[in-house]
Amino acid sequence: MSSAAPVTLTDDELRGVSALLYRWTGMNFGENKRYFIERRVTERMARTGSDDARSYLGLAAANLAEREALINAFTINETYFYREEHQLAALSREMLPQIVQTRKPGDLVRILSLPCSTGEEAYSIAIWLLENWPLVDAYNIEIVGSDIDTHALGLAREGQYGTRALARLPATVAATYFEPEHGHRRKIIDDLRESVRFTAANVIDRPSMAGLGQFDVILCRNLLIYFDDHSRLLAAESLYESLNPGGFLCLGHSESMARISDRFAMVRLEDAIVYRRPE
Ligand SMILES: C[S@@+](CC[C@H](N)C(=O)[O-])C[C@H]1O[C@@H](n2cnc3c(N)ncnc32)[C@H](O)[C@@H]1O
Repeated sequence: MSSAAPVTLTDDELRGVSALLYRWTGMNFGENKRYFIERRVTERMARTGSDDARSYLGLAAANLAEREALINAFTINETYFYREEHQLAALSREMLPQIVQTRKPGDLVRILSLPCSTGEEAYSIAIWLLENWPLVDAYNIEIVGSDIDTHALGLAREGQYGTRALARLPATVAATYFEPEHGHRRKIIDDLRESVRFTAANVIDRPSMAGLGQFDVILCRNLLIYFDDHSRLLAAESLYESLNPGGFLCLGHSESMARISDRFAMVRLEDAIVYRRPE
């Protein structure tokens, strides 16, 4: 981040940048996020050699690479391994056993972590299943991690993490699936790293989601909190279409489909409340 004092955006410029980000990502940044917005726009202006906010916004609107960089600058990537572990327990104890009831050994089972941010959630699913689901080798499990933030996806593919990201992993689990890197950092072992595919997608853009295909389980956690009702509805429609009939959707603990969409059935599992696309 640039250490220069942030530019002061006029109200029109502030509305302009908020409108672009809202249209592109579904995230709603308003007047109350003025400082956050100004800092990030200042950083992008410095990187692109723009003299004033107005010409920078013109550049961001016209240039796909700058649009991507601006989106990346605004995302909030907070995540860590084994976050909301009770949902991982629900995955291995109830969701997957129900999904495979109608599958044969060797059949494909697809799981999506979206948004996956820097990869911790997608790798957590893989590690959890290896550790806790006795049938893990009986099926062809495909785990895909997706996010709108292409920089975060690059870090996910690298698979190197610091102590904070790893803090919730039992030491024996960390020792099995990570190897030491410099400092206190650790890197996911190659076999596991290569077993998870990371690819960009925007949850409010149906064509980009359709490119990912259909899934049996989607974890969409801690994304709807950044959305208003309109973006939540777009996301709900898109997630519904991306699920196979009978497929499960897990949201973050403070998120719910209740006021957004009645297309999903709410299911109370022993370890978590989840949503299901009816058969
Ligand atoms: C707080 S992280 C959540 C990560 C993880 N699911 C978790 O709960 O630990 C939110 C992520 O949402 C991503 N994001 C924001 N808007 C998005 C969109 N329209 N489509 C896909 N991902 C988006 C951001 O890039 C960011 O990485």
